[in-house]
Amino acid sequence: MQHIITLIPGDGIGVEIVESIKQIFSAVNTPIIWEVEDIGKTAFEKSGSLMPDSLFASIEKNKVALKGPAETPVGKGFQSVNVQLRQKFDLYANVRPCKNIEGVQTKFTGVDLVLFRENTEGLYSGIQFFDERLQIADSISRVTRVGCDRIVESAFKFAHENNRKKVTVIHKANILKHSGRLLLEAGEKAHAKYPHIQMEDKIIDNMAMQLVRYPEQFDVLVTSNLFGDILSDLCAGLVGGLGVVAGANLGNDYAIFEAVHGTAPDIAGKGLANPTALLRSAIMMLEHIKLHEHAQKIQNALEKTLKVKELCTGDLGGKANTATFTQNIINNL
Ligand code: NAI
Repeated sequence: MQHIITLIPGDGIGVEIVESIKQIFSAVNTPIIWEVEDIGKTAFEKSGSLMPDSLFASIEKNKVALKGPAETPVGKGFQSVNVQLRQKFDLYANVRPCKNIEGVQTKFTGVDLVLFRENTEGLYSGIQFFDERLQIADSISRVTRVGCDRIVESAFKFAHENNRKKVTVIHKANILKHSGRLLLEAGEKAHAKYPHIQMEDKIIDNMAMQLVRYPEQFDVLVTSNLFGDILSDLCAGLVGGLGVVAGANLGNDYAIFEAVHGTAPDIAGKGLANPTALLRSAIMMLEHIKLHEHAQKIQNALEKTLKVKELCTGDLGGKANTATFTQNIINNL
């Protein structure tokens, strides 16, 4: 059976790393037909729209997409394309596994975290005002009980299904009393359903400190949109940086898999980008559509390649460029 997947190269290094994924996937004969769609600056230059109708139609039809990073022009009144996609398809769970990778040197060992970030509400809900006369900016953080319940429940469900031991609920309930309370109550509710999973809660500032001192004490983390956005980059830093961390945006009906990093304008077009983050996101996608054997094959080849520094890209201390790194993975398949 062939799977039709929407492929969104995006901007900057997106085109280069997507090419790498296509080559690796065809080397293992993955039964996928890519339906390529533009987004962001590239789409705007071609069609005058940051998010063309055909992009929405393709995701609506295929239900699953693999996406490179996208650029939203800043200061021109455009809402972030990423935020729009997440809201449009109700992709409420942003899931980011961060685990030490053999061969990738970091300051920490024993890190094996999965962060669940609420992806549609909070400070990124898009409720913003600017009073020209008084020069006052308001950004409203709207959080709902339904939104808190479903993200916390999905973290506990993941912990249960993946033999994880503990869920940490991260909040700021001492100051943000109502939104913090909703998240904590969601935690108690989910814990009652999965009593064998240990639950703890931590205030965000303490959590940031604990993560950079003793990251090995944490397992599954769940938090709101803004805190999750910041913590996910922090967690990526614990295991080798933005070039190696995968991400999935999951809802009940749709799933978009994408790397954590952005378009990397400083290295775009130079053939230097590391495709690992997008490849790992693509592996998550293969698991999602139940192509487990293909996922495992690519995962093994990637792990084998990452163990040898010279075979890797410059950000990992290696000598390879995007094309040779891709070929090194294919050689290890
Ligand atoms: P960035 O992630 O693009 O770059 C940060 C640093 O990491 C740069 O030095 C870059 O060269 C390096 N880097 C990132 N990915 C890499 C890779 N795969 N291989 C090697 N090095 C890599 O973050 P920045 O500069 O803050 O954002 C640039 C643009 O990307 C902005 O327009 C931003 O809005 C957009 N962006 C898009 C995202 C998405 O579509 N999901 C996420 C984050 C940012």
